[in-house]
Amino acid sequence: MTEVELRSWRPDDVPVLLGAFGSPDMAQQAARPIDTPRAALEWIGLWGFRDDAQAFAVVANGQVVGNVAVSNIDAHATGWVSYWTVPHARGRGVAVAAARRLADWAFRERGLFRLELGHRLDNPASCAVATRAGFLAEGVERAKLSYEGVRYDVERHARLATD
Ligand SMILES: CC(C)(COP(=O)(O)OP(=O)(O)OC[C@H]1O[C@@H](n2cnc3c(N)ncnc32)[C@H](O)[C@@H]1OP(=O)(O)O)[C@@H](O)C(=O)NCCC(=O)NCCS
Repeated sequence: MTEVELRSWRPDDVPVLLGAFGSPDMAQQAARPIDTPRAALEWIGLWGFRDDAQAFAVVANGQVVGNVAVSNIDAHATGWVSYWTVPHARGRGVAVAAARRLADWAFRERGLFRLELGHRLDNPASCAVATRAGFLAEGVERAKLSYEGVRYDVERHARLATD
């Protein structure tokens, strides 16, 4: 398992973001295209101004190799987890390690109780990450997402502070 650290995103991470969002499988990981330095800076800035969310740059061997975040933190101490890794760092346990670290932070420091996430059924790598990071599968939400006219089933996972 790769060792990772989490830290806040910084303006000098813009090149990493542009590289990451250049990957076709990242199209749905941001609300709008991250294809210019300005868009990348805005992405960093938006995360910085929310008190219902926190995103962390994932650092391995001194390099930023991904993102892990909790958003939609609500009055029930529940939050929504998301993650991605840059293509060249995949398959080395980075996302699993980052999701575990995020859960530790969310439960111990942010005081959350329930962390949820969802992955499309055609994304088995994300399912493996969720499961290995301790997020139990809770069921399939049928036809939850729609991209370019196609609807996708989504599997919900969650991890509790008491798991
Ligand atoms: C999903 C993603 C975060 C995985 O990142 P990663 O750093 O490669 O993940 P890890 O190395 O920590 O773990 C990958 C796991 O998925 C498994 N995996 C990879 N491709 C797989 C596939 N096609 N089918 C089944 N399992 C697969 C690996 O075997 C590994 O599990 P294991 O450790 O039990 O063997 C990365 O591919 C990504 O950023 N994809 C694009 C964005 C995305 O889909 N984010 C999640 C949205 S829900």
